[in-house]
Amino acid sequence: MTLGLTHMAYILAALLFIMALAGLSKQETAKLGCLSGMAGMTIALLAAFSKVESGAGFGLIIFAMVVGGAIGIYVARKVAMTQMPEMIACLHSFVGLAAVLVGYNSFLELGAVAPEAIAIPLNLTNEEIARAVETAKAAAAASDTTTMSLSELNTHLAEIFLGIFIGAVTFTGSIVAYGKLNGTYKLRIFKSAPLVLPGGNWLNLGALLASAVLMVWFMAADAPSATALTLMTIIALLFGIHLVAAIGGADMPVVISMLNSYSGWAAAASGFMLDNDLLIVTGALVGSSGAILSYIMCKAMNRSFISVIAGGFGNAPTTQKEEEMGEYRELKAPDVADLLKNSSSVIIAPGYGMAVAQAQNAVAALTEKLQARGINVRFAIHPVAGRLPGHMNVLLAEAKVPYDIVLEMDEINDDFEDTDTVLVIGANDTVNPAAAEDPTSPIAGMPVLEVWKAHNVVVFKRSMNPGYAGVQNPLFFKDNSAMCFGDAKKTVEEIVAALGE
Ligand code: TAP
Repeated sequence: MTLGLTHMAYILAALLFIMALAGLSKQETAKLGCLSGMAGMTIALLAAFSKVESGAGFGLIIFAMVVGGAIGIYVARKVAMTQMPEMIACLHSFVGLAAVLVGYNSFLELGAVAPEAIAIPLNLTNEEIARAVETAKAAAAASDTTTMSLSELNTHLAEIFLGIFIGAVTFTGSIVAYGKLNGTYKLRIFKSAPLVLPGGNWLNLGALLASAVLMVWFMAADAPSATALTLMTIIALLFGIHLVAAIGGADMPVVISMLNSYSGWAAAASGFMLDNDLLIVTGALVGSSGAILSYIMCKAMNRSFISVIAGGFGNAPTTQKEEEMGEYRELKAPDVADLLKNSSSVIIAPGYGMAVAQAQNAVAALTEKLQARGINVRFAIHPVAGRLPGHMNVLLAEAKVPYDIVLEMDEINDDFEDTDTVLVIGANDTVNPAAAEDPTSPIAGMPVLEVWKAHNVVVFKRSMNPGYAGVQNPLFFKDNSAMCFGDAKKTVEEIVAALGE
């Protein structure tokens, strides 16, 4: 493929990636979005293949793709929907690691660069400079080295340094995020509570300043300093660990989108190092869409981006223990069915537990049963319910719940006080009144579904364990609340059966 054709293929692929993003923004066009992304990636791969010059290089790429593809297909088929965030965190860590490796490779290749061959006097005209560069390039080509003007070399050094820095932060940050998202509340590899080191913010600032000083050393030394690069890499790896470890459980949605954004910038940095325009464009698309998503998440959770990065949501110790909160009431499935029979309006607030129990079809069946009795049923969706943006919408769409009864938090929050019964199905943090009522709570200020304002609330879960943020929930102990213990799917199916009798 000629260079012109490769560039055209890259432009087409970039357009298809933009169409993929646009398509994925709506449920109705999501499939088309996926297809556009796949077509773009196929074109990009073919164009990249055409640049490979040696047979051995081609063989290595095919080998890596077959092995990587096989692992990818196996993992993607095996992973449950509820494990997607940790899988995404894992994939982000690969992007970060790739950027570090590309950076070190570019650094090692610098040995074959001969900048002094084209040191150009300042008093030349533009034409003379162009001629001098061409002559130096021809000389270098003859001597099997690559030439760069000094300004090109400096830009390349900055790309290498920044690419490795962003890649290393993304790599370790994503591994810690994986650990925080993995497993259940008690078995999680890293606790969701934030790591609070004395002077944590100063440590972050110190790491950034030290890296800036090392960058000056790296670029100003007679030959690019491997020591400066290595020291920066170690600092960036530790910085990535601390940055994410310091962020509390409830802020994890922002962390995922933030790491998504970092992985995009790491890919863009690799694109600069490899001189690959498509990688730069794709990295920038991922980087900026991740940044926009982080902003949306912060807005949904009433948090400022800076304070999330600085850590601390969930910093305060858990306010009250379960035993200090009082007594809770318990209802069995047939009691809940009776309560529902006597209600004229019902709101269902689903959460992560509905996804774990795969209860969406049972919930859809319950909705139909209630509607058949003339009961007004609607769904209230919190923006960070579950573990993925749009997690609940996807599950409900899969179970064919009509879109028009699925409402966002802002659309339905004022309606709870006029509602007879709210069914909280596997949600916890997103319905925690402490966020609105207790200024000392670690989740104070986070907007939540105000379910406790309804006449009756039934909470479906298996135990009194806290939700993802590790904060106890006073909702369970309110006079108008009752717990319905058990796996959400089984309990809802029992209620459907009881309603049918
Ligand atoms: P959570 O606070 O995570 O609570 C889920 C509840 O579901 C748990 O209390 C659990 O209690 C219950 N549960 C688990 N398995 C169940 C089953 N099989 N049957 C019945 N109940 C079950 O849920 P949420 O309200 O959706 O809040 C989401 C949390 O995740 C927020 O803190 C949010 O910040 C965080 N987060 C969100 C995202 C995104 S983007 N959405 C990403 C990362 C983190 P038991 O164990 O007692 O059953």
